[in-house]
Amino acid sequence: RKRVAIMISGGGSNMVALLDSMTADHPAEPCLVLSNDARAGGLAKAAARGVPTTVVDHRPFGKNRSAFEDELMKPLLAAGTDIVCLAGFMRVLTDGFVSRWQGRMLNIHPSLLPKYKGLHTHQRALEAGDSEHGCTVHEVTARLDDGPILGQARVPVMEGDTPDSLAARVLVQEHRLYPAVLRRFAGGDRRPLMLD
Ligand code: GAR
Repeated sequence: RKRVAIMISGGGSNMVALLDSMTADHPAEPCLVLSNDARAGGLAKAAARGVPTTVVDHRPFGKNRSAFEDELMKPLLAAGTDIVCLAGFMRVLTDGFVSRWQGRMLNIHPSLLPKYKGLHTHQRALEAGDSEHGCTVHEVTARLDDGPILGQARVPVMEGDTPDSLAARVLVQEHRLYPAVLRRFAGGDRRPLMLD
C-alpha cells in the first residue's frame, strides 16, 4: 500500500475525510499528518485516529522558505511517504520542494480551476455572478494552483448565497471528491474524475 502524508494548517475536515476513507481495502494508508501550525484543529483529529502527527512551525524561518521546507522533508522521508496530500495547507511551496514530490503530490482547491487561483475563491465567484462553483483536486506543479486536474465537483450558486454559505456547500463536495480522487490516484489511475 502507498503511504500517504497529509499536510494541513487548520481544522482538517478534508484530512478527516481522507483518513476515514483509507479502510483496509484501500490502495493507500496514512503515515503522517504534518502541520505548519501547532494550533491546527486537525492535529487532535489525526491523533484520535491513531495517525502520527508532526508540527513544523514556519515562523522561525521567516522568509527562508527552503529552510522551512528542509524541515518539512525530514518527517516526510522518515515516515516513508509515497504520496503527499495538501489539505488546507496554507503555505506556498517553492519549486524545489514541489519538484521533489513531482507526480506524487496532490492539492485540493476550493474553486473550479483554472478559475480563481489563490485566496477568497467563494467571494470571487459570487462577485463574478457565477451560476456554478466547486472544487478541484490537482497534481501540484511549480505554478500556484496549477497542474493536471485529477477531479472536480460542482455546486450551484443559490440566490442569497454568502461566501460562508457557498463555502459550506463546496466543502461537502470536497469531502466526496478528495477521497475518491486519492483512491484512484493511489491505484495508478490519473484520469480526471468529474462529480456533479
Ligand atoms: C478547504 O476548503 C480547502 O479547499 C481550502 O482550505 C479549506 C481547508 O479546510 N484550501 C485552500 O484554500 C488552499 N489554498 P479543512 O482544513 O477543513 O480541510
